[in-house]
Amino acid sequence: MEEKSHHSTTQMLNVIIYGAPGSGKGTQSDLIIQKYNLSHLSTGDLIRKEIADNTELGQFASELIANGQLVPDEIVIKMIANKISEALQNSNGFIFDGFPRTVAQAEALEAMCEEKGIKTDILIDLQVNEAELINRLLERGKISGRSDDNLETIQKRLDVYVNQTKPVTEFYKNRNKHAVIDGMGTIEEIFNRISDTLNAVNS
Ligand code: AP5
Ligand code: MG
Repeated sequence: MEEKSHHSTTQMLNVIIYGAPGSGKGTQSDLIIQKYNLSHLSTGDLIRKEIADNTELGQFASELIANGQLVPDEIVIKMIANKISEALQNSNGFIFDGFPRTVAQAEALEAMCEEKGIKTDILIDLQVNEAELINRLLERGKISGRSDDNLETIQKRLDVYVNQTKPVTEFYKNRNKHAVIDGMGTIEEIFNRISDTLNAVNS
């Protein structure tokens, strides 16, 4: 009998995790990065770090975040540009969380990847209904200390999501890289759905 030969060349996997505020991007990223050995790049986390460190960028962004508004594209794109190469050195790829958030950011990301000779594989679109989103974020607001986890700002974040971020899904649909995932249920159930999709991409 012939033995099956496994060419276990480590394959690169570059993922975008996408969804409304509170859809579970950060929660699922933590699980995905462990299973697939990916680097986590969350623009929200990076901006909050700038705010905590009281940098110039942080001072500029702090009011925008508290108001649920996006930080300008140029700033976010610059933040990411340096991180991509860094991220790829110690992992099998990256997972972008909260980026790209506008079509301009998506175009910039794709251009950066092309320049580096890599590609984004899939956008995971976590779908959660609005009542559940608000519920999760208000719940988190009791302990998170995040300036945007209050009802007034949550409403603004959801508006910004619909008006400025939703078009990103069309961008990736047109490139056949859009995967819809039911984001309702337990964290584990959702993670299993995501894993099935990523395993299919990665085979
Ligand atoms: P960002 O940090 O990206 O926040 P967001 O998109 O509003 O989303 P969240 O981080 O609040 O939610 P999440 O989807 O990660 O869900 P999580 O896993 O935490 O952006 C914040 C701000 O930064 C923006 O408004 C903007 O100002 C700026 N910014 C960031 N990126 C930018 C960009 N690219 N361009 C311009 N500006 C940018 O889950 C939420 C809660 O629910 C948690 O408490 C969690 O424990 C809980 N939970 C998760 N899953 C489940 C489940 N299955 N069941 C029950 N509870 C659950
Ligand atoms: Mg998050």
